Amino acid sequence: MQEVKFVFESSEKSNVSGKCTWESPSNIALVKYWGKKEHQIPANPSISFTLSNCKTTTTLHYTKLETPSKDFQFDIFLEGEQKDDFKPKIATFLKRIAQYVPYIKDYSYKIETSNSFPHSSGIASSASGMSALALCIMSIEKELNPSLSEQEFIQKASFLSRLGSGSACRSLEGDLVCWGTHKEITGTSDLFGVKYPFEVHENFKNYQDTILLVDKGEKQVSSTVGHNLMHDHPYANNRFNQAHDNLSKLIGVFKTGDLSQFIEIVESEALTLHAMMMTSLPYFVLMKPNTLEIINEIWAFRQETGLHLCFTLDAGANVHLLYPEHEKESILAFINSKLVGYCQNGHYICDTVGFGAKQL
Ligand code: PMV
Repeated sequence: MQEVKFVFESSEKSNVSGKCTWESPSNIALVKYWGKKEHQIPANPSISFTLSNCKTTTTLHYTKLETPSKDFQFDIFLEGEQKDDFKPKIATFLKRIAQYVPYIKDYSYKIETSNSFPHSSGIASSASGMSALALCIMSIEKELNPSLSEQEFIQKASFLSRLGSGSACRSLEGDLVCWGTHKEITGTSDLFGVKYPFEVHENFKNYQDTILLVDKGEKQVSSTVGHNLMHDHPYANNRFNQAHDNLSKLIGVFKTGDLSQFIEIVESEALTLHAMMMTSLPYFVLMKPNTLEIINEIWAFRQETGLHLCFTLDAGANVHLLYPEHEKESILAFINSKLVGYCQNGHYICDTVGFGAKQL
C-alpha cells in the first residue's frame, strides 16, 4: 500500500469553521518499536496495549482564512496556559502531514489540550497528544468529505499520527494494536496501526498497568536520538529479527492465555530495548537504581507467590507493572507495601488496558 492513497483530493470547497474535540489514550508496547527508516517507517513491527486512563483531550478551533497561509497559523494552550515552546514540534508535524491534508493551510487554529496525567510525571504525552490532534484534523476532513467511511477515517488518522510520533499510530483503537508489517498478522502495515485481528484469551481482558513514577524528570534521550542510535548499531539486525519472532510467539500466547510465556516475552523486550541503548554509540543507561530495585522485587514476589506480575519499560526509568485483573487485589497490596517506596514522592498511576480514542 502506498502513501499516495492518503492524499486528500476532493475538490469540494467549504466555508467550515468551528471546533472539534477528541480524547485519545496513551499506549504501552509489549514488543517495542526501536529504530526507524525515513518518513517514520519502523525498522520492526511492534504491538501495544491501549491504556484507557492516561489520555490527552484536545479541542481544535478552526477558522477559515481569506487566503491560504504559507506557514501554519496556530496557538497552543496546555491546561489553559499558552505554550509557545510546543510550537516547533507541532509545526514540524503539520509540515510533514500537509501533503496529505492540504486543506490545513486554509485555516488558522487554536489548539487547547490537557492530559489526564500530570505533565511532569515523566509519562510521554506524544502518543496521546499527536493522535488526539490527528483525529481533530480528520474531523475537518470529514466535514469536507462526508463520504469518508469510519475505517478510512481511523486508518488515515493513524497514518497522520505516525508522522507526529511513531508510537502514536497505535493509540487510536483498543485493546491491542499492531504497527509494522508482520507476515503472520493480517492487515499489518508500516504506515498505520491496526487492531490485533486474532483471538485473545480472557486472561488478557482488562489487563492492569500500574505505572511506577521512578523519575519524573525530562527524558534523558529524545526518541528521535534514540531511534537513530539503531543506525549502524552492531546488534540491529538481530534485534529486528527478534521483534518479528516475539510477535509470532505472542500470537500463540494471546490464543492460549499462557501468562508465563507472556511474561518472558514482555520482560525480555523491555530489557532488550535498554540493552540496545547501553550498547549503542553514544551509550546510555536510562534505568535508575530504583528501577533495578523494583525489577528485583518483582522477580522475588513472583517466585514467592506464583502470581503473574511482570514489568515493562519505555525509554526511561519509570516501570510499567502489568498483571491480570483477577490478581489485582494481592498485587495492589504488594505495590502499596513494597514498591511505593521506590517511586518519586510515592507516586504511581493505575491504568487498565481498554478502549481507544473517542470524539467528545
Ligand atoms: O513514538 P516514539 O518515536 O516516541 O518512540 C517510542 C518508542 C518506545 O516507546 C520506546 C517503544 C514503543 O514501541 O512505544
